[in-house]
Amino acid sequence: MAKVKIALTKGRLADESINIFKEAGIRFSAYEEDSRKLILPSDCEQYEIILVKALDVATYVENGAADLGIAGKDTLLEANANVFELVDLGFGTCQFAVAGKKGFDLNQAVKLSVATKYPRVTTMFFQEKGRQIETIKLNGSVELAPLVGLSDVIVDIVETGRTLKENGLDVLEHMYPISARLVVNKASYKTKSQELLPLVQKIKETLTVTKG
Ligand code: PRP
Repeated sequence: MAKVKIALTKGRLADESINIFKEAGIRFSAYEEDSRKLILPSDCEQYEIILVKALDVATYVENGAADLGIAGKDTLLEANANVFELVDLGFGTCQFAVAGKKGFDLNQAVKLSVATKYPRVTTMFFQEKGRQIETIKLNGSVELAPLVGLSDVIVDIVETGRTLKENGLDVLEHMYPISARLVVNKASYKTKSQELLPLVQKIKETLTVTKG
């Protein structure tokens, strides 16, 4: 059997993914040892995880450097990757939203300026509404932008809403719901179907049992 490579994002998504694999009978003891290694084998050595930045999961999977990947729908939409999305894993749930200062009227500006880590998703969303906008690409702490006059509003993910609240911002418009997705390289899905299909099936069964 050929080895199966799986791209994960360090942090909570990887922790939850490792748990799902464990429930599906695949252990990654090396991951639990809090190591700095970026390539970690499963105990049975049939699988290997690689730890990458969230936005890069799609890139590794699209190019076949990983057969499978687990990433948030936010990063998959932004990366616009040419991969198959197989399963909604149901964790990592949050939402895309337009946010700004309390009471800000989205229709007041002729050309809205929007700060975001997600310029592609932002452009798509406003284009569909026929709105002309200027996107300002940031890499983090996006909530600062409307507070210091860098932009009118932001497009970002909102999970608990705490970051918005503590910075005096409100959701002005809900966009799309987000959760973690299992994606697969299109070629691997055919050439490694013997290895991948049973694994995907096990993951689906694990989710059904968890959801009760
Ligand atoms: C994300 C996101 C929001 C925050 C939302 O930022 O960009 O800022 O989490 O979570 P909340 O609704 O639970 O407060 P992240 O923690 O990735 O940090 P960043 O701002 O540096 O990107």
